[in-house]
Amino acid sequence: PAERDLAGRHVVISAGGTREPLDPVRYLGNRSSGKQGYALARTAVARGARVTLVAANTGLSDPAGADVLTVGTAEQLREAVLKAAADADAVVMAAAVADFRPAHYAAGKIKKKDGEEPAPLELVRNPDILAELSAHRGRPGQLVVGFAAETDDVLVNGRAKLARKGCDLLVVNEVGDGKAFGTEENEAVVLGADGSETPVPYGPKEDLADRIWDLVGERLPESDAP
Ligand code: PMT
Repeated sequence: PAERDLAGRHVVISAGGTREPLDPVRYLGNRSSGKQGYALARTAVARGARVTLVAANTGLSDPAGADVLTVGTAEQLREAVLKAAADADAVVMAAAVADFRPAHYAAGKIKKKDGEEPAPLELVRNPDILAELSAHRGRPGQLVVGFAAETDDVLVNGRAKLARKGCDLLVVNEVGDGKAFGTEENEAVVLGADGSETPVPYGPKEDLADRIWDLVGERLPESDAP
């Protein structure tokens, strides 16, 4: 990649997995480690960007040179990302965000009662942050990048997701069977709203991150920074 080609740019990255609390000891969560999002943050810093990393439940150490905001739930992640995106050149949503959260939070630990069937878990929908970012850009020309974690019909589902979310680029990676979640390596196809399709072969998550920044860099309007 061109050295420091993101100098003067502000990029916002979300990483990790949200946790939606049920009671003080339990939550609904997912298997994201945050490694892909942190690789995006490290490579963006290396290329000269100002980086805001919104991290959900990762347990990873802060990448040097990035501003790190830690969050727990999808609601908190939404607030932090939207605020940081106000003046961002690009936003990349690598976090695995829960689509649903428990409808009720129990202030005390939920107890099991002998002989009783467990109560069904009632869920409500979380806001779709990527769709919201795409519909309301923080500034003109802002690039919005999403990820798609798919287990089957990966490209067909990816194309449909790109159209539904309205983002500029969608990084489609296959998950399940030990793929992508928690690993050091990844492979993906980056779909563009312009119809482009960029396959990125299996390799370190940094390599995929660098390819994403290449594609973002090509699409960013000229910088108005001096
Ligand atoms: O963290 P790692 O262990 O390194 O693993 C990396 C990864 C597999 C988590 C990552 O590469 C990845 O695919 N991240 C997106 C996971 C995901 O939530 O995919 P999705 O297909 O469910 O969501 C599509 C997109 O919409 C994502 O950009 C997601 O951030 C966003 N989204 C989803 C739901 C929601 N309510 N709001 C959102 O903004």
